[in-house]
Amino acid sequence: MLKAVTFTSAKTQILLMRMDTLEELNRKGFIDEPINPTLDLFAEIEKLKKEKNAIILAHYYQEPDIQDVADYIGDSLGLSQEAAKTEADIIVFAGVHFMAETAKILSPNKTVLLPDLKAGCSLADSCPPHLFIKFKEKYPNHLVITYVNCTAELKALSDIVCTSTNAVQIVESLPKDQKIIFGPDKNLGAWVAKKTGRDLVLWNGACMVHEIFSREKITKLKQRHPNAEFIAHPECEEAVLQMADYIGSTTGLLKYSSSSDATEFIVATESGIIHQMEKANPHKTFIPAPPNNNCACNDCPYMKRNTLEKLYLCIKNGLPEVNVPAEIINQARIPIERMLEISAKLGL
Ligand code: 13P
Ligand code: SF4
Repeated sequence: MLKAVTFTSAKTQILLMRMDTLEELNRKGFIDEPINPTLDLFAEIEKLKKEKNAIILAHYYQEPDIQDVADYIGDSLGLSQEAAKTEADIIVFAGVHFMAETAKILSPNKTVLLPDLKAGCSLADSCPPHLFIKFKEKYPNHLVITYVNCTAELKALSDIVCTSTNAVQIVESLPKDQKIIFGPDKNLGAWVAKKTGRDLVLWNGACMVHEIFSREKITKLKQRHPNAEFIAHPECEEAVLQMADYIGSTTGLLKYSSSSDATEFIVATESGIIHQMEKANPHKTFIPAPPNNNCACNDCPYMKRNTLEKLYLCIKNGLPEVNVPAEIINQARIPIERMLEISAKLGL
């Protein structure tokens, strides 16, 4: 809560209020201010976007309200491409921290905001840079490809970044005898190794959301919906991927669900994507794949930290802001730009 400070000059008051806000931001991760319940947040956000020349980039895993107010909704690759080319002064990133960092690295002169700084990522957390440095040392002469779901520090230790849309093509663009370390996602890495026939050295990291799907429950669900196609994100475990009729990134899954003749789909990825699938295919049915217990674990707890209210307060206050140290920007930019160049050549 912003506190009023009395018996001080107006300038000091503003400074103290800002310090209070920053201290609270560090603690909570977001601006916690009361919002008039009668406000039409959609209209207010539209107004603020225009006033501030701000753009909202949202990942498919965001809650439906956020997707509906976004200027661009996409997968990790599309969001990076959009962040690199936007003319807006402010990028409001409705996604997780590593995505906002990537936007900052690609557009260092722009202000990058994230509605909740605690919107992290279990996969990014599974690869601490100081341990990865030691891992790299064990494999000299290896090129390092890292999945975009990692910290800016890790990208700075990489040769090429990839996303699930282009990982196969990026590996294939390298000479056959090139030795490769792939991190941090072992499931995506194993899938890429299988698709390309390459022997990749894998970091042992994973996403908590994609590892939770239950093969047994999916089998039972398929029996109850014999005409449904089972589609899965490559961050899922091998045992689940083996059952899939189609494997692809969030954009891949969305496109497949529109182009396929099937009218029912069991979807093994974060449930937020289903909003766009239903919008694009109002007559088709989408069933979230069941996790191995009774939790709502196919909702990413990090992605879902962002809410429409936090998004509104974030644009209104210009906080929380994501910054990346200049030396990390300079190093991490190179492997991300390599990815964007390869993707542009391949028309991805
Ligand atoms: P894509 O949107 O690139 O498929 O990635 C999914 C993901 O896990 C993002 O956190
Ligand atoms: Fe990270 Fe998994 Fe959430 Fe994606 S779904 S942001 S990989 S924890």
